[in-house]
Amino acid sequence: MSEADNAPGSAPAFTPRVFSGIQPSGGLTLGNYLGALKRFVEKQEEGIESIYCIVDLHAITVWQEPDKLRRATREMAAGFIAAGIDPERSILFNQSQVSAHAELAWLFNCVVRMGWLSRMTQFKDKAGKNRENASAGLFVYPSLMAADILAYHATHVPVGEDQKQHLELTREIAGKFNHDFGVDFFPLTEPLIEGTATRVMSLRDGTKKMSKSDASDMSRINLTDDADTIAQKFRKARTDPEPLPEAVEGLAERPEARNLVNIYAALADCSTADVLAQFGGQGFGVFKPALADLAVEKLSPINAEMQRLMRDPDEIDRILGRGAERADAIARPILERCYEIMGMVRSRPPR
Ligand code: TYM
Repeated sequence: MSEADNAPGSAPAFTPRVFSGIQPSGGLTLGNYLGALKRFVEKQEEGIESIYCIVDLHAITVWQEPDKLRRATREMAAGFIAAGIDPERSILFNQSQVSAHAELAWLFNCVVRMGWLSRMTQFKDKAGKNRENASAGLFVYPSLMAADILAYHATHVPVGEDQKQHLELTREIAGKFNHDFGVDFFPLTEPLIEGTATRVMSLRDGTKKMSKSDASDMSRINLTDDADTIAQKFRKARTDPEPLPEAVEGLAERPEARNLVNIYAALADCSTADVLAQFGGQGFGVFKPALADLAVEKLSPINAEMQRLMRDPDEIDRILGRGAERADAIARPILERCYEIMGMVRSRPPR
């Protein structure tokens, strides 16, 4: 028995390791950037071993045009690098190149309970009224997500607020596996949902999440938007007629105002209170242009670097391929051990 799967009760020490993923089901939004990508870079800078994955196997749980999927995967890789992920210090790859994800997901499909999956709000939201016609992949999506994380024994997962329920399920799967087989093999991973932008809202409706799948492009800022488009989207963002309040409590019943203030705070790396100290009492005629300027200042360099990287897709593919090899080297032994724990005969000579 290895050190990491000793009997329950003894506390195995898992080395801190960060894992997170983003679906290439469209372009990167400001929500993805502030809720996830920017924070991935912070984790990398803190020096924690970090693994970042473009989850193409998750994307195909709903229909994806093959050519668009390929392009979105490369564009997302360019977005990660342009935002500050260093593919030497962190591991950056696309999910389908490391088969341990799909294999472990199958093992977890046999651990997770139908009832647990039925409670997932994302399935209910995405499948909508037409559940019979949703792919089976969409239903078992959370098993694959648990596999992504646990194939690396990841201890910490930076995500936005909307992923909380999936991370709770990941802990339940890890706990049930450990309990059923009498081991402490998988860590109970901690979600990291931090900062002022854990839930960036639509610019058209402050009660809906900003999303790459929203029908209206005006509802979101894309990392590929140019300066004029960003300015126009913030100018047209829905707001109320009141000036900004002096104190944070004044935002409680004002979802659109709160959203814009939170976005400003996240972009400026300051608190919501700091933003209100500067803009409290002022109208949106002043605040929106200031927000647009700040967003352009922060996002334009990322956009420009993305465009530059996208001119050399072969280099992006090389980076993803190399990242996949490094990821595989961590995940494969963990998966092998998992097969053994579950009682599979593993006698093939190593390749
Ligand atoms: P996805 O692709 O929808 O989003 C990627 C990351 O961006 C965050 N995010 C937001 N944060 C704040 N405000 C928003 N409006 C907003 N929209 C998106 C998400 O919370 C997420 O952190 N199931 C995941 C992908 C995934 C994954 C994983 C994540 C697959 N395997 C393992 C972590 C660990 C998803 O669909 O994210």
